[in-house]
Amino acid sequence: MKKIVVANWKMNPDTVSVAKNNYNSIKRNTKKYRKVETVIAPPFVFLNSFSGGLKMAAQDVFWQKSGSFTGEVSVNQLAHLKVSYCIVGHSERRELGESDIDVNMKVRALISVGITPIICVGEKDRDSNGEYLSIIKNQIKDALVSIKQKDLSKIIIAYEPIWAIGKKDSIGTRSLHEMSIYIKKVLSDLYSKRTAFKVSVLYGGSVDESNARELVKEGEVQGLLIGRASLEPKKFTEIIKEVNSIK
Ligand code: PGA
Repeated sequence: MKKIVVANWKMNPDTVSVAKNNYNSIKRNTKKYRKVETVIAPPFVFLNSFSGGLKMAAQDVFWQKSGSFTGEVSVNQLAHLKVSYCIVGHSERRELGESDIDVNMKVRALISVGITPIICVGEKDRDSNGEYLSIIKNQIKDALVSIKQKDLSKIIIAYEPIWAIGKKDSIGTRSLHEMSIYIKKVLSDLYSKRTAFKVSVLYGGSVDESNARELVKEGEVQGLLIGRASLEPKKFTEIIKEVNSIK
């Protein structure tokens, strides 16, 4: 299975010309790294600005298909733009009020149009008695309410501990490995072991070109969600190269 590396540009850059330059540079320089699916998640306003070649993700969506919802963007609109993935439940959106119920509604709406949801889960901090594990379990359970087993292979879970987002250091590879096993276990309890192993788990939080390879390899995740380092095409390309080099 190809590794998946997603560039989460968040609310950047300011102009469409910079967005196009960054996109084209990433496209040109990552073409040869065939073991990685490179995905760009720009702000909504740039989703239709590029010439094609790389897979696109939205950073959010609204769950209603159409109607009077000022300011929102629907799954149908994303589907018509040939968007392949959509991030849901990013901690920065949860901070602005997105609930587990909202996340679930969005996941259901995305699946109904064939867009793969990238469901972000992550704890604020780690306590010594393992409370954070139940936070992750509940976020996954709540996001997947009414999702059928057959649709699970169309879902990605991105583990993004909030304490590692936008910081200097990422999670350690050993803790990440434990978490990737734990997430598969939660999915296996909810569905089946076979189904659980069809779900890709990504990691996000202070990933750069120096730690990308070991996080994927030793953390045993199927890819990465990159914030800051994805805004510099050179750095981001280096990350793709590192992940591509994993045997
Ligand atoms: P970061 O952000 O790579 O800048 O830590 C990751 C994310 O929020 O997806």
